[in-house]
Amino acid sequence: MKESQHRATFGGRISAVLVAAGGAVGLGNIWRFPYVAGDNGGGAFLLIYILCILFLGLPLMIAEFSIGKATHRNAVGAFHLLDRRWSGIGYMGVLSSVLILGFYLVVAGWTAEYMIHSFTSDLVRQTSAEVHRHTFEAFITHPWKPVFYATLFAAATHLIVTLGVKEGIERAAKVMMPLLFLFLIVLSVHSMLLPGGIEGLRFFLTPDFSKVTASSVLTALGQSFFSLSIGLGTMITYASYFTPETSIRHTALHVTLLDTLVALLAGLMIFPAVFSAGIEPAAGPSLVFITLPTIFGSMPLGELWSTIFFLLLVIAALTSTISLHETVTAYLQEEWALSRFAAARCTTLFTALLGALASLSLGVLQEWRIGGLTLFDALDFVTANILLPLGGLLICVFVGWRWKRDEIASQLYAPTGGAHRRPGFSIFRFLVRYFCPVVMLLLFLDNLGWKLF
Ligand code: PHE
Repeated sequence: MKESQHRATFGGRISAVLVAAGGAVGLGNIWRFPYVAGDNGGGAFLLIYILCILFLGLPLMIAEFSIGKATHRNAVGAFHLLDRRWSGIGYMGVLSSVLILGFYLVVAGWTAEYMIHSFTSDLVRQTSAEVHRHTFEAFITHPWKPVFYATLFAAATHLIVTLGVKEGIERAAKVMMPLLFLFLIVLSVHSMLLPGGIEGLRFFLTPDFSKVTASSVLTALGQSFFSLSIGLGTMITYASYFTPETSIRHTALHVTLLDTLVALLAGLMIFPAVFSAGIEPAAGPSLVFITLPTIFGSMPLGELWSTIFFLLLVIAALTSTISLHETVTAYLQEEWALSRFAAARCTTLFTALLGALASLSLGVLQEWRIGGLTLFDALDFVTANILLPLGGLLICVFVGWRWKRDEIASQLYAPTGGAHRRPGFSIFRFLVRYFCPVVMLLLFLDNLGWKLF
């Protein structure tokens, strides 16, 4: 494997955790998780989400890390090396990354616009949720502004990806992740103390199982995969840059914990504020963009907090757009033998174009529907609810049934070995061989109309 010797690596254990967590933590936790939880009844969704993370997400992340670390290749190349017949998983992953970038860049652009607005306009002083709703709707349907910001975001992502794995990707993640945490904690405490906030806590933390359907379970599964960035080869790509000393199990555990903690904090920040301001928790993708400015309006020095918060959101989004971009760029670079610049340029051009169309689909191109959905919603739905769970299912089957037991054990327990005696390994094997594939298959069939539950 000549190439692997020229490949970059991340600094070490902590870098690996921070970079992978940077790829995982993003708008999925702070923008998507609260609105999807709000749409699906709150507390019960949270519980199912946590179960999905534990029993499906974590084993799958370990599986993806093992593939990446064993092969030192991009998502497609890894399967070329292990067993060509399974390369479809890699291709599907690259396609999913492109499609996710299509709508992710748009939302990332919104966060950039909100960051800039926080200190250039007096909008932040408004305390009415209605005013913020109007402002948000006017902005996202504007014929060029959101397209401009999405393009700006694509350009920033391009710049960091072309700076390279260590200088660009690793540095950005190391500085910003700790800051994001600190800020989320401060804001969630503030939000819980708002008048009426307790109602929001109750909605978020008390399960109401009458709201649970098979489709909300699939949504929780899709959200957990989306949030952990699994099912599409991003974590295969990132693990291909791990050093030999990086422990797959510890990294996966830490990344999963950090990612879930951020989603929880986001819920604790959003729901009390939603109830305090009298907003519908099922308001959809606009939820965070209406709620947060409403909280900032009621805070002393609101402009400052708002600017810092949206700056952190921009960074969280950027570390994720980088990971998606890297998945496609690494594939084009290694499998098409392009230079890193050319590979990154192709990725940026194509995804920025898709992003522009997705953004316009909320405004001037609103009439243009795919299966009744706007392009923006269709990209979100198809990736999170279909492609990621399907990718996850196939990766589990590959690692559980096709990959030899000893090979995976040597990835997980190198260099100490002794996997056979470890109960954790048997649990992992059981989950990837039986539990994950069966649960995912049943959910799929149910959603396709075979009413099983
Ligand atoms: N996990 C990222 C987030 O939560 C989104 C993402 C999905 C990034 C898939 C990479 C791959 O925002």
